[in-house]
Amino acid sequence: MPINDATGKSSPVKRIPAFATLSLLAAFPTLIFVLGGPGAGKGTQCSRLVSRYGFTHLSAGDLLRAEQERPGSQYGQLIKDYIKDGLIVPMEVTIALLENAMNDTISSASSSPKSKRFLIDGFPRKLDQALKFEESVCAAQFVLFYDCPEAAMEARLLERGKTSGRSDDNEESIRKRFRTFVETSMPVVEYYEKQGRVVKIDATPEPDEVEAKTREALRERLGEEF
Ligand code: C5P
Ligand code: MG
Repeated sequence: MPINDATGKSSPVKRIPAFATLSLLAAFPTLIFVLGGPGAGKGTQCSRLVSRYGFTHLSAGDLLRAEQERPGSQYGQLIKDYIKDGLIVPMEVTIALLENAMNDTISSASSSPKSKRFLIDGFPRKLDQALKFEESVCAAQFVLFYDCPEAAMEARLLERGKTSGRSDDNEESIRKRFRTFVETSMPVVEYYEKQGRVVKIDATPEPDEVEAKTREALRERLGEEF
């Protein structure tokens, strides 16, 4: 995804002023944060929700990986280092990428009203991201939290690592990602839990069962006809 600012310079800076996002989102306010440890199944479940309900799925990790690969990105090396070590990339980069992607969807003439509803996957992973995003871009309706024991997540990630080509699906990076999740990302879930904004789903079963539970939870939160 090429990201260019007004001068044509290549960087993930905002191309569209924040108020544009805000005013457009006022008309299309559905935005759900999808959280859970590495390997909990966030991406799998988001894809299923997209096929069934037409949400737009934005994965912060996918956006960062795309930016890392983008020729000329001034953040490529930084993102590469952070991902390998399972650390959280500074929020300015991630929020700009998310905001640009949201603006692309909202302003695209071809996108349907249903697609102007967002599943934001793997974000916010740190409290500062949560506060900044909700203050300057959009408040989430709630948080979908996929809860899964580490042993199950580790097995899934090692299996995925056989074919994913990801630099962080290996034992050493997985250990670091788990630590970041416990120390930095769980406090975000707890912050939202205190506000009664977390929908917790047991992500241990097979994807079909997790999907059924997710759909039930969404119907409860968004109504039967969402
Ligand atoms: O969600 P995913 O597993 O694809 O994220 C991969 C990596 O991307 C994380 O371990 C982290 O290094 C980075 N990331 C981040 N901030 C986010 C989401 C992902 O720094 N909000
Ligand atoms: Mg993912």
